[in-house]
Amino acid sequence: MSSQHVWNAESYETHGRFVSDHGQIILNWLDPQSGELILDAGCGDGALTSEIAQSGAEVEGVEVSPSMVSAARERGLKVRELDLLLLDDEARYDAIFSNAVLHWISDWPRLLSGFRKALKPDGRLVVECGGHGNIAAIRTAICAAASQYNVPTHAAAEAYLTPEEATKLLNEAGFEVERAELVARRTYLKSGMEGWLSVFRHQFIEQFPEGEVRDEVMAKLLSWLEPQLKTADGDWHADYVRLRFIAHMR
Ligand code: BEZ
Repeated sequence: MSSQHVWNAESYETHGRFVSDHGQIILNWLDPQSGELILDAGCGDGALTSEIAQSGAEVEGVEVSPSMVSAARERGLKVRELDLLLLDDEARYDAIFSNAVLHWISDWPRLLSGFRKALKPDGRLVVECGGHGNIAAIRTAICAAASQYNVPTHAAAEAYLTPEEATKLLNEAGFEVERAELVARRTYLKSGMEGWLSVFRHQFIEQFPEGEVRDEVMAKLLSWLEPQLKTADGDWHADYVRLRFIAHMR
């Protein structure tokens, strides 16, 4: 992970709340049980962590963004400020849960090795993240703008895996996959594509000087994305593809 993956809780609340709003399916997959100790890996501002806690399970969060850690602690949650790659627990958790985070991490072997160590011998790993083909139109538009303006895309670390790639990495790390799927989920963006870009592609956008040039780049991105991602009613969507899996310790 890097500073690219550090989020501001306030702008996330305005432009990114939909991320946790869409977490219900993977929460159902987790099926938390009272008496279990669960880790929410990359818990953000703790919206889903709180829902896990309501099930009666005990839950802890790990999160790298200081502002998100503060927001989660304000909900009364137990959260450590830590890069997931530095997780160093031993046989502590019944389950590790993660929503919309693992695509930010390119070193899955190291990540999964930390998860395996942190789980109890019969523990499970339940994940939803961006998968193969995720935000393909948005990434294509960013690449085109980067090329036109001769600047970097700032997106190199994202890993959008197929179920087969994820299964191979999980097997190599000592997990057995119970279920893995890839699902296209066009996602309505309440604050539009400009809001999404300004939060999730802020490094790309902010490398252009504020004012005319930045406005011009944003206008180009929007005009290229409009045919695929804006409805006739003017609603913007992101072309999300979700990878979901449940894996158990072998
Ligand atoms: C995602 O959840 O797939 C995602 C969110 C922000 C940027 C890129 C991907």
